[in-house]
Amino acid sequence: MKLMVFPTAAQVDDAVAQRFVALLEKKPQAVLGLATGGTPVGMYARLVELYRQGRISFAKARSFNLDEYIGLPEGHPCSYLHYMRENLFDHVDFAPGAARVPDGHAADIAAAALAYDRDIALAGGIDLQLLGIGHNGHIAFNEPGTPWDSPTRAVQLDESTRRANARFFEDISQVPTQALSMGMKPILQAKSIVMMVLGADKADILARIVAGPADASVPATALLSHPDATVYADAAAARGLTSREVG
Ligand code: PGA
Repeated sequence: MKLMVFPTAAQVDDAVAQRFVALLEKKPQAVLGLATGGTPVGMYARLVELYRQGRISFAKARSFNLDEYIGLPEGHPCSYLHYMRENLFDHVDFAPGAARVPDGHAADIAAAALAYDRDIALAGGIDLQLLGIGHNGHIAFNEPGTPWDSPTRAVQLDESTRRANARFFEDISQVPTQALSMGMKPILQAKSIVMMVLGADKADILARIVAGPADASVPATALLSHPDATVYADAAAARGLTSREVG
């Protein structure tokens, strides 16, 4: 796992956006793994800006989002489909149906999960997977203890995750208790992974990951043994690291 530290979040946003630019230049039909949450908002804004400048096109690309809540009413503003439309999909040139978010409203969630992994595999796997990280080390909604060969499936959200996400809702009682989450297996099978870590409140978990060891109790430590994973952190998130770790 590589670690890159930038003075500001805006510099992280730009560096990660440039990874998408470089990939889509080389492979316009690339398969992207996309994330939601507070962390990538600025990076998506940068991608939209680069698209408007004619420096990136998603016209031939496909994407698979990491997760979606189960149990929110259709069209709920806190759904991840809504988030992706607002932050990226409505502003760039994905072909209709090419940008996917797990269907948290599927009548048969288990079948939808199976189909999601099948469709990722049929697309050739994920070329570049974007990740954020939870304070407990979760990636997507794979909470601590999730086996690294777990498929996409319905998951129970940790109470700490519900509390962290309550800021997007009116109050915590509105935060769903379940989600449909891409599994650790399809995430770790991505050819390249970029994980964005921003802000002082992520300093402790970033230090834990960088120090290792890799252990399922901290899902993001799975990146330590991935052949092409890079953490992009801002200085605030990296403040708990030693100079040797930053390199
Ligand atoms: P955040 O969430 O970007 O809103 O901090 C990250 C996550 O929980 O994976």
